[in-house]
Amino acid sequence: MAGKIPQPFIDQVLNQTDIVDLINSHIDLKNKGKEYTACCPFHGEKTPSFTVSPEKQFYHCFGCGAHGTAINFLMEYEGLQFVEAIEVLANRLGLKVTVEGGSTPHNDQHVLYQALEEANKYYQQQLRSNQDAISYLKSRGISGEVASIFNIGFAPTGFNNISNALGKQFDQATLVNTGLLSEKSKNKTYDRFRSRIMFPIKDTRGRTIGFGGRSADDTMPKYMNSPETELFHKGNTLYGIHEARQSLGKIKQLIIVEGYMDVVALCQHNIRNCVATLGTATTAQNIRNLLRYSSDLIFCFDGDRAGRDAAWKALEQMLPEFKDGINIRFAFMPQGEDPDSLIRSLGEDSFNKYLYDATSLSEYFFTNLIKDIDTSTPDGRAKLASTAKPLLAKIPPTVFRDLMYKELNERVGTTISVAPSVINNNPQSSPNINRQSRSLKYTKTRLAIALLIRDPSLAESSLPIEELSHLLPVPDIDLLIQLLEIIEAEPNISAIALVERFHNQDSYASLQKLLLWDPPDMDNRELSFKQTMERFRDDIRRNELDLII
Ligand code: UTP
Ligand code: MN
Repeated sequence: MAGKIPQPFIDQVLNQTDIVDLINSHIDLKNKGKEYTACCPFHGEKTPSFTVSPEKQFYHCFGCGAHGTAINFLMEYEGLQFVEAIEVLANRLGLKVTVEGGSTPHNDQHVLYQALEEANKYYQQQLRSNQDAISYLKSRGISGEVASIFNIGFAPTGFNNISNALGKQFDQATLVNTGLLSEKSKNKTYDRFRSRIMFPIKDTRGRTIGFGGRSADDTMPKYMNSPETELFHKGNTLYGIHEARQSLGKIKQLIIVEGYMDVVALCQHNIRNCVATLGTATTAQNIRNLLRYSSDLIFCFDGDRAGRDAAWKALEQMLPEFKDGINIRFAFMPQGEDPDSLIRSLGEDSFNKYLYDATSLSEYFFTNLIKDIDTSTPDGRAKLASTAKPLLAKIPPTVFRDLMYKELNERVGTTISVAPSVINNNPQSSPNINRQSRSLKYTKTRLAIALLIRDPSLAESSLPIEELSHLLPVPDIDLLIQLLEIIEAEPNISAIALVERFHNQDSYASLQKLLLWDPPDMDNRELSFKQTMERFRDDIRRNELDLII
């Protein structure tokens, strides 16, 4: 798919993008000499080990080893595909993405997005002319202003509204594939959403990918959601994330609730850092996504049995995703209330008090485990140990895990910790995955490549490619030659565009490692490069001599 966007366009986008600007629009960067730093968005931490280099147009975390270009950043941070990342960068620059060739899968998706956006507009327009629907929202305390923040709409009664409204612009198959139409039998379709208040579900970039519809009368089911489609995956979607990011920018703390109406009602009370999972149990993917936006999460659950079960299920999903530096808590609403009803009846202060009193993950873990166990007896304590151990084993090696074992040991009264401790470990062990890449084995070829991808203009002082090819099969020489060939064809290519040419190739990872590599000879690049070429020349002569002898 990447090939469908013309290479010169990708180059242009990369050349005009400043990675510092880009990343700074997502997380706060602080200037530190030649580089910028922040707490790493890809793992929890309290002291910054994430650095961005304006010179290399590259980011790198000394803690978790995450690294890459502007494109990698968007792919990781926003969960985008390569082509989508290019599109985001292009949009930032006000460039129009040009696509070569005919219909690609990506093109088809484009039409799906368009159809969903048109439906979104259509439903909103229908809401404006439907007095009953407006009254329903008013009765639930939703103002016009908040309705418009969330693009709330209305799907009128009838079975052919979508076909009538969008049928000229989009074919049936497209409308079925968006989930807007249900298919009764072949070629017989009808509106999936009828007589419902419509909540468009957006991705982080604000594109509508599906809908939730609440019946405005008492028709069952109360809520209907879009089916899973090419664009809409319930387990990977958070309702309200786009709106929260729109109004807050960077999100300090995220409140996770169960329903659309909870998100909307909290916004009505000026609490904007809320998202909802979509009527499904919290998935591991949800947790990973949430932690990308904030390291401080408060999950709101109903206070009843079902709410507690849901909280425990969520906790089980969280354990394997745990990282140090994150804070996850559980707030239980009083019996029979959800955040929407609570805030409407008792107000913000009362709701905030429930947030304030939220239970930490560790506390909830133990109180829930011992609620049916009598830990005053040895049998009870043994039972606690045997239930807790397999759960604790799911937590990655973190200080948090150590503390959980410690707590368990105290409660059980004996040492049962089996997992190796991270607290007392030598500092080499876990976080510094990338030490290795910093200390890459020094070879001339690697040095030449490392210099070239920092400054492609050095190619001017290179030996001719033909001559270098005599050195094959010296490892990495082929990569050096590939680089020189690209620069020969495009002498003005920027360093980062040069590296990105290798995006879909095996050598991409090596090039990224070489960008991070800091051998001593980097200060005077031109001199180092020339000397390296001299040494290649010596090698070539020696080879020739060997041959003659
Ligand atoms: P709730 O039943 O708690 O509804 O479902 P709610 O959000 O409080 O709705 P109101 O206040 O009565 O309007 C929570 C979430 O579960 C999903 C929806 O995503 C809903 O927001 N759900 C619920 C369904 O998908 N289908 C249903 O029939 C009910
Ligand atoms: Mn409710």
